[in-house]
Amino acid sequence: MNSVLVFFVNGKKVTENNPDPEFTLLTYLREKLRLCGTKLGCAEGGCGACTVMVSRLDRRANRILHLAVNACLTPVCSLHGCAVTTVEGIGSTRTRLHPVQERLAKAHGSQCGFCSPGMVMSMYALLRNAEKPSMRDLEMTFQGNLCRCTGYRPILEGYKTFTKEFQCGMGDKCCKVKTFSSENDKLFEASNFQPLDPSQEPIFPPELQLSDFLDKQNLIFRSERVTWYRPTNLKELLQLKAKHPGAKLIVGNTEVGVEIKFKHMLYPHLINPSQVKDLLEIRDCQDGIYFGAAVSLSEIDAHLRKRIEELPESETRLFQCSVEMLHHFAGKQIRNVACLGGNIMTGSPISDVNPLLLAAGSQLEVASVSSSGEIQRRKVKMDNGFFTSYRRSVIEDHEALLGIFLKKTCKDEYMVAFKQSRRRSDDIAIVNAAINVRFQENTNIVSEISMAFGGMAPTTVMAPITSQLMINQQWNHQLMEKVIESLSKELPLDASAPGGMIAYRRALLVSLFFKAFLVISQKLGNLGDSLPTKEQSGGERFHFPSNLKSAQIFECVSSEQAICDPIGRPQVHAAALKQVTGEAIYTDDIPAMAGEVYLALVLSSKPLAKITKLDASEALALEGVHRFFCHKDLNDQENEVGRVAHDEHVFAAGEVRCCGQVIGAIAADNKTLAQRAARMVKVEYQELEEPVILTIEEAIKHRSFFSQHPRPLIQGNVEEAFTQADHLYEGTCRMGGQEHFYLETHAALAVPRDSDELELFCSTQNPTEVQKLVANVTSLPANKVVCRTKRLGGGFGGKESRTISVALPVALVAHRMGRPVRCMLDRDEDMLITGTRHPFLFKYKVGFSKEGLITACDIECYSNAGYSLDVSVAVLERAMFHFENCYRIPNVRVMGRLCKTNLASNTAFRGFGGPQGMFAGEHIIRDVARIVGRDVVDVMRLNFYKTGDYTHYRQQLDHFPIERCLEDCLRQSRYEKKLEEITAFNRENRWRKRGMAVVPTKYGIAFGVLHLNQGGALIHIYADGSVLLSHGGVEMGQGLHTKMIQCVARALGIPHELIHIAEASTDKVPNTSATAASLASDLNGMAVLDACEKLNQRLAPIKEALPHKTWKEWIKKAYLDRVSLSATGFYAIPDIGVYHPESNPNARTFSYFTNGVGISVVEIDCLTGDHQVLSTDIVMDIGSSLNPAIDIGQIEGAFMQGYGLFTLEELVYSPQGMLMSRGPGMYKVPGFEDIPGEFNVSLLTGAPNPRAVYSSKAVGEPPLFIGSSVFFAIKEAIAAAREDEGLSGDFPLEAPATSARIRMACQDKFTNLVEIPEAGTFTPWNIVP
Ligand SMILES: Cc1cc2nc3c(=O)[nH]c(=O)nc-3n(C[C@H](O)[C@H](O)[C@H](O)COP(=O)(O)OP(=O)(O)OC[C@H]3O[C@@H](n4cnc5c(N)ncnc54)[C@H](O)[C@@H]3O)c2cc1C
Ligand code: FES
Ligand code: FES
Repeated sequence: MNSVLVFFVNGKKVTENNPDPEFTLLTYLREKLRLCGTKLGCAEGGCGACTVMVSRLDRRANRILHLAVNACLTPVCSLHGCAVTTVEGIGSTRTRLHPVQERLAKAHGSQCGFCSPGMVMSMYALLRNAEKPSMRDLEMTFQGNLCRCTGYRPILEGYKTFTKEFQCGMGDKCCKVKTFSSENDKLFEASNFQPLDPSQEPIFPPELQLSDFLDKQNLIFRSERVTWYRPTNLKELLQLKAKHPGAKLIVGNTEVGVEIKFKHMLYPHLINPSQVKDLLEIRDCQDGIYFGAAVSLSEIDAHLRKRIEELPESETRLFQCSVEMLHHFAGKQIRNVACLGGNIMTGSPISDVNPLLLAAGSQLEVASVSSSGEIQRRKVKMDNGFFTSYRRSVIEDHEALLGIFLKKTCKDEYMVAFKQSRRRSDDIAIVNAAINVRFQENTNIVSEISMAFGGMAPTTVMAPITSQLMINQQWNHQLMEKVIESLSKELPLDASAPGGMIAYRRALLVSLFFKAFLVISQKLGNLGDSLPTKEQSGGERFHFPSNLKSAQIFECVSSEQAICDPIGRPQVHAAALKQVTGEAIYTDDIPAMAGEVYLALVLSSKPLAKITKLDASEALALEGVHRFFCHKDLNDQENEVGRVAHDEHVFAAGEVRCCGQVIGAIAADNKTLAQRAARMVKVEYQELEEPVILTIEEAIKHRSFFSQHPRPLIQGNVEEAFTQADHLYEGTCRMGGQEHFYLETHAALAVPRDSDELELFCSTQNPTEVQKLVANVTSLPANKVVCRTKRLGGGFGGKESRTISVALPVALVAHRMGRPVRCMLDRDEDMLITGTRHPFLFKYKVGFSKEGLITACDIECYSNAGYSLDVSVAVLERAMFHFENCYRIPNVRVMGRLCKTNLASNTAFRGFGGPQGMFAGEHIIRDVARIVGRDVVDVMRLNFYKTGDYTHYRQQLDHFPIERCLEDCLRQSRYEKKLEEITAFNRENRWRKRGMAVVPTKYGIAFGVLHLNQGGALIHIYADGSVLLSHGGVEMGQGLHTKMIQCVARALGIPHELIHIAEASTDKVPNTSATAASLASDLNGMAVLDACEKLNQRLAPIKEALPHKTWKEWIKKAYLDRVSLSATGFYAIPDIGVYHPESNPNARTFSYFTNGVGISVVEIDCLTGDHQVLSTDIVMDIGSSLNPAIDIGQIEGAFMQGYGLFTLEELVYSPQGMLMSRGPGMYKVPGFEDIPGEFNVSLLTGAPNPRAVYSSKAVGEPPLFIGSSVFFAIKEAIAAAREDEGLSGDFPLEAPATSARIRMACQDKFTNLVEIPEAGTFTPWNIVP
């Protein structure tokens, strides 16, 4: 037995004596090897931020396998004899960038950069396997990587340059749309990229290649809690299983790893079968293929594909279904390690392979060892009796699964499988189905049929009764009708069943069968019923468009502009190269300090309760646990905090008002220990008399509102206008919240300096606010607290105010203990604690003429604020300011209420209430168009504000280019032509429908609170001519620092390379506003110019006297002449004010507006509710862009985030107020496969903005609402489906338009079969807040 782990990392040998079996590779890399380029985004294999490449020698095939894997799930013990390559191992800014790193950076595919090392490593691993991959390979490669910033287009565009399909970016087959000639459409120059030279790649360590010594070792690694065994033959494995029947076999660890991390399971015995050849075998047999249970899904996929190519089609129908299913199974990193045996043995009711295996009646081989040491093998058929209960099967604990036999199908046998999930790629199934039918020879008469379904019961289930009634029947419409009726009876679903979406799942059951019916009928050809052509496409499924198209259109800078003047040029993000090489430091990458402790939070598990007991004694008894902190460690005043009102506590004082509220914190030696100890703190609760309120409707019912709310906005005379209107209409609309899902979770590190100073490194958008509140909780003056923020791995508003949940406990404990303290939230904690975008409900009444001219609107806006106020008043106010979107409504009454609920405090999120408000406006304009029977675009045009008009808060629109944006966008999108195509498509297809929608947007630029509209800067010029710039804004991926550097470069007339920004810090620029409201460039840019102007004035005499000298010479001279080379800058937006109808009726609420128009075309699958965005066109007016690459990146990223908000992203809460969607497994942000098939973005030309730096406009938030164009296009498509059923008129559709909502809105004979249990007669599994 050997207990020394040996593996290689970036070519260096690592030996570890008796490693901890609970250590993941990610922890090992980051904590032990200090390789922090590999990031922690989720710890559950769902984001790809931790992707590294693992290489090992397959001695049987004598080839080296290079696999992209998730380091967060890879046990470090599993790496014996392997070589690991991380982002640091392939290139660096100091030596040479790898082309994979260079292309991502230069194609503008790295914004916040937190996902970038993972992207780089996924691409790198692909290139190590295929020198010239195809676009399809790219699609598969990135299924397991998420990016929340870029919208993916630039990543794909950059990496497309490695593919077969890439034609120099210019040839005939160029992917770009070439309809615009006068403007620039190139954000990068691919011909400048360094070529890929595979001969330069690091070699596989010869030591591993030459000797199989390590592979043959029998390993045992022991920690206090867990023992890891790596037997080398089957007998040893089975003996271990016999001795420890509860032992887990660890292959990919993609089930067990998640259970250990998130369900806190402890498995004392782990067996790694990676050297047991019986489990790794792939054997082709006469009638099928045998796969060892530990063969990875990727290997199975590759082998099946080969056989599909070689064998007759009829023999490979099960293989084809398996390959199709595997395509939608997790991401590449998971498939590279996960095995089929692990999936079968887990027995998940939503397993993707089990329905297939059951329907095919697959044979398994199982083995155990007898007491006399003999290996006993048995065959088990996967049939109706295989799964015995939730996650249990007939295979017993002391047995091991050896392998699975996938049979060849025969000529008259057909198989179809479908999976429906929230998101098409890398998502678990909601319902899946596999149908295997055999016909009597050359007929359509069913001789045998097996059907298996996932997601309909606690196990994968079959439908024997329905199958029986099909025997000897003809496969035709009559049979199909009988089957769907029988199926819905045979497989009912309890109204409270886990997973929710009951009606949808019941509808899917029959709809998926119908899809299978269509596919098989088509395959039967003239043996079966002829299908109406209109129905045929119903059997199809969506595929990632292989011919992605895009165009980015922007204005070129004038040829007279100085070469070194970077304003208006698509300059690469200033930190992009560091980000793609893993060199960029985020808060948790800061090396551990001497004496540092880790803080883990104790969180409430109740939504509303009194805390009756708080006992940390058991936790404190653990060695290495130092202290427990709770509200008793602060006085009342120190404990009371909050962004606007101090209505929150650092630690809950006596009672909790939401699940996830911070009750206390444990300080311990390391993260694992602190988290384990925090779970041991005993909290006892007593329920309160008050009702638990979670939803807006409950809050309205109980009148649970915050007393603070924005003043109603009243303009004109609504009642009178209603009496004069031709039409009155009353409607409602509702939209859900949204999780920020920045890839970097909240993190803070506090370091005591002297006895009365604190230095914080914090992932916050608002360093000044953190400084202020830390001063409050520590009773220190602000001048003794410094908050530093180098960069964020995304913020999106989520790090504007909610940072306090982490930063304040960390600072307090550091101050009290006199030791550095660190905390980075796990993804599930972050999602639970830090709140979301506010869900909204709008109730409106609108009056309009028969032409569709809106004359009056009375609207009530309700937002779900959660348990504390945070910034909710301002969010609601912005929704009220934006509800009319781009439409002039002369008579308006807007009322807003903040619902006080027992949810985490909801907070700022890109758009800050604006998108929610405009969502109501877009409903209103569509209601009006529908009722007057006019085209919605015409009604939009009729109602658009014109330059000079006033808003309902009396702001005059000095310049309002919405019609130009609209006309440009209509032209760009070929709107009229598409309209015709859509009409024809919908006429020809019953189960597929298309829809198109136009959405304009108008977004007001200014903080709602007057004093926040200020910015500051500090510029130091050093004697060598280099410039250190500090300003009040935080870099979170939006390219702010890049733009600020560009501004200084122009203002001082120097190359941008001379300018550096180190961080945002409260000791450089004080009293800053949050980096929010899209304003950071405007505020800080002008402050930067102010500072530059001062410096220029001081330098002017020197420049004048020495006109032919260089910048460096002038600076040297200035220094010698004792001229101050440091200047501060300041800016306050002029002429704005807080609107008040009486005291300040002419106030300019917003400095200006950013406008744009988007048009999206979607296709929906009416049977499943799935959808695909076929195209999106956007035209934005962002003035004169400071940097078109960054601005277009913001537009695309915002669009995709808005798309997620309005379609995919659904927060799932239990009826007890616990957020259940606490990770990427359940919460689906858009992935690579969700980008529009054609995605064109143009910046409106010739529209300089006099009110911001260098005529630019704010861009971060305004485009987000354009994502709703997909929602409205989906609604159009649903309407077309309903029309086929004779249903006209409006129908409710809440956002997000999830597959469940789309399917259920497409009413038809299948949904009509579903009995929807009456609300109130059962406890639903989840609620919608
Ligand atoms: C991000 C992510 C996405 C996922 N997506 C999907 C998806 O789309 N569809 C889907 O179906 N699943 C999905 N899964 C679940 C998981 O990946 C699969 O179930 C996978 O096949 C498990 O294999 P593994 O090797 O990782 O199992 P492990 O975690 O290593 O083991 C799982 C279980 O199987 C047992 N086991 C393994 N091999 C044997 C054997 N030979 N004999 C007896 N017992 C054995 C182990 O003891 C353990 O209990 C996903 C998981 C993650 C983390
Ligand atoms: S951190 Fe590993 S996949 Fe997210
Ligand atoms: S750049 Fe991808 S998550 Fe920020």
